[in-house]
Amino acid sequence: MLIKETDYGTPASNIEAMVTLEIDGESVTVPVGTSVMRAAAEMGTKVPKLCATDSLNSFGSCRLCLVEIEGRKGTPASCTTPVEAGMKVRTQTSRLAKLRRGVMELYISDHPLDCLTCAANGDCELQDMAGEVGLREVRYGYEGANHLKSEKDTSNPYFTFDPAKCIVCSRCVRACEEVQGTFALTIDGRGFASVVSAGQNEDFLDSECVSCGACVQACPTATLIENTVIESGQPEHSVLTTCAYCGVGCAFKAEMRGEEVVRMMPYKDGKANHGHSCVKGRFAWGYATHKERITKPMIRAKITDPWQEVSWDEAINHAASEFKRIQKKYGNGAVGGITSSRCTNEETYLVQKMIRAAFGNNNVDTCARVCHSPTGYGLKTTFGTSAGTQDFDSVEAVDVMMVIGANPTDAHPVFASRMKRRLREGAKLIVVDPRRIDMVKTAHVEADYHLPLMPGTNVAMINALAHVIVTEGLVNEQYVAERCEPHDFQMWRDFVALPENSPEATEQYTKVPAADVRAAARLYATGGNAAIYYGLGVTEHSQGSTMVMGMANLAMATGNIGRNGVGVNPLRGQNNVQGACDMGSFPHEFTGYRHVSDDAVRASFEQAWGVSLDAEPGLRIPNMLDSAVEGTFKGLYVQGEDIAQSDPNTQHVTAGLAAMECVVVQDIFLNETANYAHVFLPGSSFLEKDGTFTNAERRISLVNKAMRPMAGYADWEVTMMLSKALGYPMNYTHPSEIMDEIARLTPTFKGVSFDRIRELESIQWPCNDAAPEGTPIMHIDKFVRGKGKFVVTAYVPTDERTGPRFPLILTTGRILSQYNVGAQTRRTDNIAWHPEDVLEIHPFDAENRGIRDGDVIALTSRVGETSLHAKISERMQPGVVYTTFHHAMTGANVVTTEYSDWATNCPEYKVTAVEVRLSNQKSEWQRDYEALREATRKVAVTAAE
Ligand code: SF4
Ligand code: SF4
Ligand code: SF4
Ligand code: FES
Repeated sequence: MLIKETDYGTPASNIEAMVTLEIDGESVTVPVGTSVMRAAAEMGTKVPKLCATDSLNSFGSCRLCLVEIEGRKGTPASCTTPVEAGMKVRTQTSRLAKLRRGVMELYISDHPLDCLTCAANGDCELQDMAGEVGLREVRYGYEGANHLKSEKDTSNPYFTFDPAKCIVCSRCVRACEEVQGTFALTIDGRGFASVVSAGQNEDFLDSECVSCGACVQACPTATLIENTVIESGQPEHSVLTTCAYCGVGCAFKAEMRGEEVVRMMPYKDGKANHGHSCVKGRFAWGYATHKERITKPMIRAKITDPWQEVSWDEAINHAASEFKRIQKKYGNGAVGGITSSRCTNEETYLVQKMIRAAFGNNNVDTCARVCHSPTGYGLKTTFGTSAGTQDFDSVEAVDVMMVIGANPTDAHPVFASRMKRRLREGAKLIVVDPRRIDMVKTAHVEADYHLPLMPGTNVAMINALAHVIVTEGLVNEQYVAERCEPHDFQMWRDFVALPENSPEATEQYTKVPAADVRAAARLYATGGNAAIYYGLGVTEHSQGSTMVMGMANLAMATGNIGRNGVGVNPLRGQNNVQGACDMGSFPHEFTGYRHVSDDAVRASFEQAWGVSLDAEPGLRIPNMLDSAVEGTFKGLYVQGEDIAQSDPNTQHVTAGLAAMECVVVQDIFLNETANYAHVFLPGSSFLEKDGTFTNAERRISLVNKAMRPMAGYADWEVTMMLSKALGYPMNYTHPSEIMDEIARLTPTFKGVSFDRIRELESIQWPCNDAAPEGTPIMHIDKFVRGKGKFVVTAYVPTDERTGPRFPLILTTGRILSQYNVGAQTRRTDNIAWHPEDVLEIHPFDAENRGIRDGDVIALTSRVGETSLHAKISERMQPGVVYTTFHHAMTGANVVTTEYSDWATNCPEYKVTAVEVRLSNQKSEWQRDYEALREATRKVAVTAAE
């Protein structure tokens, strides 16, 4: 069955006071500020409408929603008329019916009469309304001036714009402005000549449009329509699920015909996205059935042998016997595994359980190692819990946003739209970032302060901000006295007050004018509710954990923790990176961040799992690779993770992988790590399984199976088979049973179950007896650790220094259309926006090197060299260059180094000393890579069972 959400016509009012009125003789009580249209809809009365929809402010242009109100002249539009106490409204009279028919007649006279062959047939509000108002004939005929021959715009790979069907209701224009905040569309011309336009004489693809699809969703006709609907027809049933891309965790209805996805429709009741989406979640799902999906298990003796397709039994038994052989020969600790932040919580939990219980060691790690492990360390140390403090809705109460080392419009687009909306409402913005990211200046949004610091100087910057707050008397003394450890606070206060931490003194490192730092600090401390949102530009540094603690200090000192509209909020990268960390994927922690050396905690797992467990933390990913190069680590199970592309210093990673005797890769595609694998186990996409993901706001949401696994098994079933072959059988019949076990063993998940999540739509942990409906905002009355802990954060410059050989700093990041290593998004039409990684370089640095836009350049660091095209960009500051890591052939991580965060080993991706020079060829690494790819990707054409 298709899930159809009610459209109330106008947004809900957030005013608490209520009024009572009468509609068609019935009494209804609604909040002050509600429209008459919405009040009618809430009592089940549909007033005909075209230009109104409840995701947009009312506009009042179509005149279809006219009503009669006792004591008022004329027939006001119900969408723009607010309710009043005692009002008496009539929505259905013969006068109204006549007027509405007249309006519809005009629309239909300039509309193609092809309903039966139109792709929107059955899902068109114009068609519905014509029926609803009883339109039977059009008196004006169809021969007058019309738009029926207007040309279609098919430039966007995902949707078509057919102006012949446009009724100029401007819902698309308003969706682009109000929901998405891009302002790409306008209505050009007046009266009859009015047309929707994406930019000036541009098509959609070349315009500012970021392909979020909000306009397509808002369009009441077939004017803007998904190409997949044109190709496949209207969907027949929907499955509620959660986006498998970024940490925003948008809820979607997968709208299906049989087992084929027709479109992904953002779910209006989704608490993370409230009915919005970005280009990835809405449109870039084609990878799930891409022809390069591997659906047969494969094995080989050497990586240069062709892959042999084998049965599941043979592949699983081979992998298990190899792991057992390696452990017998090299010791228990010679094998380990990596869990996936793209897989479900239940799958991640099973992998770490298998490693601890079946391998008998704690050599388990996850990709959070290379992204947000400093968040876990820093927030646990200061606040007592390893996660963000707020829900996304909290942004609506923010007065001052400080965005540090994050690029929300590219990496967390749906949340960025909410941030931009709040900024348009008047909130202030401070951006701390070496690049001029979009948020610095975009349509109707401009940062009050952009602090373009040099990469690697975050801690100097946070200390300078704190210095101003402490020395200018801006500390919230009462909050600190009540909520924080006094001794630690005093130590921190004395430290940041030192002259060496002043904005003037730190300017030598940050290169940011001291006056701007002072002004930004004052704004943060005095501007009302202040919230920090941060990303990998904070964590991926040698002082990543220090910086996280520095931000926590700043928030505590100003009293900006523990209520709506404030907080310290990591914008987490992959869909389930929060969940992977929660599920005990780190070598030192069980679920819920409890240390493996804690006897009581370990005993609870030993009893539940029926094995004795190691009390010593195991190897982190970099330690596994180092040990492999040294010859002591020999076998690895990697689920849904591509360390050969994503991890730093590619040549070191691949040397580690090449030195292992058994690498087992479980993935949906032959990824880069699989080039070094001996066993390939086909994975399943999010559409093929049940489970849960946990987003950046600790929200646990259901993932529901929309189609059968292409390879026969979901990932959790494959892990169970492998564990059984290793001699540790697990017997779950459904992922909900795995979650039940997690809840039994994890205090912060005690109240979580699939049924409960279904009932509440989603749950933010902690969810237990104290918070049976979950916890949107943490640390309200006291910190999880009791008193908040200030930590002294001395700035220590990274060892990675620029010099005559490598005078520039490379910093890396993401782009909207691509996701992580690109394995999924490169296999979709998103490739239209980013066919290759490019190097952004400031005009000054480019000119010095004789580089013009589009030239091929060699990018060299002390560990490697790659080549790519140059893009001259003033978003960069002189001395800093930037690239993305979405394409394997570019190999951005060939140049990144082994330096990492002192506390967590999170790599220092954001600071690499490099040189850039003109080149006309691929680098040696790229040539070797091409040869290796050629040699290691052959599949022998032998039939599998
Ligand atoms: S797809 Fe999104 S960005 Fe593009 S025009 Fe539509 S609403 Fe605007
Ligand atoms: S394209 Fe659709 S939403 Fe936009 S004005 Fe035309 S009919 Fe309305
Ligand atoms: S913002 Fe993130 S979760 Fe939402 S649709 Fe885009 S990629 Fe998916
Ligand atoms: S729906 Fe009210 S004027 Fe269009």
